[in-house]
Formats: sequence, C-alpha cells, structure tokens
Amino acid sequence: MTLDLDISHACAVTDISVDAALEGMSILITSAIDRNIPARTTHSQRVATLAASIAEELNLSLKEVERIYLAGLFHDFGKLFLPSNVLIKREPLSEDDWSFIQLHPQLGATFLEHVPPFHDLAKDVLHHHERIDGRGYPRRLSGEDIPIGARIIAVAESFDAMTALDSYRTSLQQDIAGDILIQDSGTQFDGGVVQALLAVLDRRRPHVRSTLEANINAKR
Ligand SMILES: [Fe+2]
Repeated sequence: MTLDLDISHACAVTDISVDAALEGMSILITSAIDRNIPARTTHSQRVATLAASIAEELNLSLKEVERIYLAGLFHDFGKLFLPSNVLIKREPLSEDDWSFIQLHPQLGATFLEHVPPFHDLAKDVLHHHERIDGRGYPRRLSGEDIPIGARIIAVAESFDAMTALDSYRTSLQQDIAGDILIQDSGTQFDGGVVQALLAVLDRRRPHVRSTLEANINAKR
C-alpha cells in the first residue's frame, strides 16, 4: 500500500498565523477523515484553504479567517464516527445511508464543542449543510441565521466536491462548477459568498485574466 498524502504543508493562506502545532495536529486528525480518497492534498485541506480565501475576500477579520480555516479542516470530522462502508459506497445511497450521513455535522460539532481550543469551530461545523432557503440540515436554518463560516464552508465544499480530481464522480471544469453555484445562489448558497469564491478563482488564474486583458487591449 502506498501512502501519497501531502500533509506536510504550512497554512497556504497568506497572513494567517494559525499556531503551527495546532494546525499540524488538525491536519493529521482531519487527514483520517479523507483516508479513503487517494490524493496529494485532501478534501478537508482544500476546503479549509478555499474557505479562508473566501473569508479574506469578504473582508472578515483575521481572527474569523483563522477560525473558518480550522472549521474548514474539521467540517467533516463527524464522518470519522460513521460506518466506512457508507462513506465509500459508489452505488446510490439508500434512505438509511442518508440518515447516517446526515448525522455527521451534529457528531462533529458535539465532539468539538467540548474540546478547547476547538469549541469555537462547532457552530460552523454544525451548520455547513444548511441551505439559504431553509431546506438543509440539521436545523433547517435559513439566510443569515446560518453562521457566515458555515455559509462559506458550504460553498467551498460543494466547489471542491465538483472539481476535485479525486472525486468519485467525474470532475467538472471550474467554470462549469462556478455556473452551478451561481444557479443555486439564493436557494442552496449565499449569493455573496459565491461571488467571493468567483473573485478568488479569478485571482488564482492570473494567466486567464492576463490573456483576456491582452485580447481586450488588442481590440482597442
Ligand atoms: Fe459535510
């Protein structure tokens, strides 16, 4: 068995000073959540990094950005307590399977809220599957009743699930995934958070932007 996980990175988001020991321990723990997915970086790490970038884009305070980064790492912590045959199932999930899966936000939050310094993360973890229209789980919160960290993680997680090469589904191009998130703004996702994600992606692809700008300038 080869283990090819890249878990040695430091915080990938500039200006964040999450304590190195706390971050390292968090990455080690949360790598176990993604143990069934072979990849160089894990879903949890990618969601954490993207969520922190979105939080920065929304001008949240450094303290909030750091909290959202860690909550992103731990968002699926509750899956550690679910049967792995449900988590790795490739066939359509049964009603019972879904009942198990939908326990994971509450399970994760219940453990985190009792353990300092992680208790600040519990609310974002608990509500990361709520929907803006109130049809999510576990509490059916809607709009701004959903904590901002949870709204950000929901967008980052969905984007990563659609685009990751290690996804069980065929991965989508980032532009197509962005269009899906825009379509679902105001129902599943917070539209402002989706716009912030698109701005982050635009900045991550300077070559695309510089090509577009060069084309525009050439036409002037
Ligand atoms: Fe989740």
